[in-house]
Amino acid sequence: MKFFVDTADVDAIRELAELGMADGVTTNPSLILKSGRDILEVTREICGIVEGPVSAEVVATAAPKMIEEGRKLAQIAPNIAVKVPLTWDGLKACKTLTGEGHMVNVTLCFSAAQAILAAKAGATFVSPFVGRLDDINLDGMDLIADIRAIYDNYGFETQILAASIRSVNHVTEAAKIGADVVTAPPGVLKQMAAHPLTDKGLATFLADWEKTGQKIL
Ligand code: G3P
Repeated sequence: MKFFVDTADVDAIRELAELGMADGVTTNPSLILKSGRDILEVTREICGIVEGPVSAEVVATAAPKMIEEGRKLAQIAPNIAVKVPLTWDGLKACKTLTGEGHMVNVTLCFSAAQAILAAKAGATFVSPFVGRLDDINLDGMDLIADIRAIYDNYGFETQILAASIRSVNHVTEAAKIGADVVTAPPGVLKQMAAHPLTDKGLATFLADWEKTGQKIL
């Protein structure tokens, strides 16, 4: 399973990349806003930190302009994946941009039907938003499972990029289902290391070690 980091915070990306925990990065207009940085500048910096795909999202809504924006974003670095929304125009832009050899991440996917269209349009990645489906009392993980089953039925090569990941359980459930990639905020990826029994066990070991009076160094 690949881990993408869902942020435009370069310090957080660098820390995870040094540990081999950042196979790629996803950004979106909200994350660019949160970073307070210029999209071209921060995306270029991120592309220099990770070798894998860095998703940069277009903001036009009509296909011709999306394609122009996508071409401009793709010029930033060879590892850019142009992110387009899962609309009819977004699918047109996906088809053109993948035809030109660019990676394309089709985002804001909320149904299996939409995911089929993304695969047919040649998307490199499709991004089903798990957390936002949970927010409206649907089960986001059911969507990941449906897309996995459909893509496997037909050998679609589009990678399932589980997005809007909010918890450690989201990551492990997506892994069990077989999502190709999970993109999660740095805090969720770091939280995966935490377990209360690890903390409790470590406290006991350290207390016992203290009693031995020994030192390793
Ligand atoms: O990858 C998409 C992600 O940034 C959306 O997450 O938590 O805003 O639904 P969220």
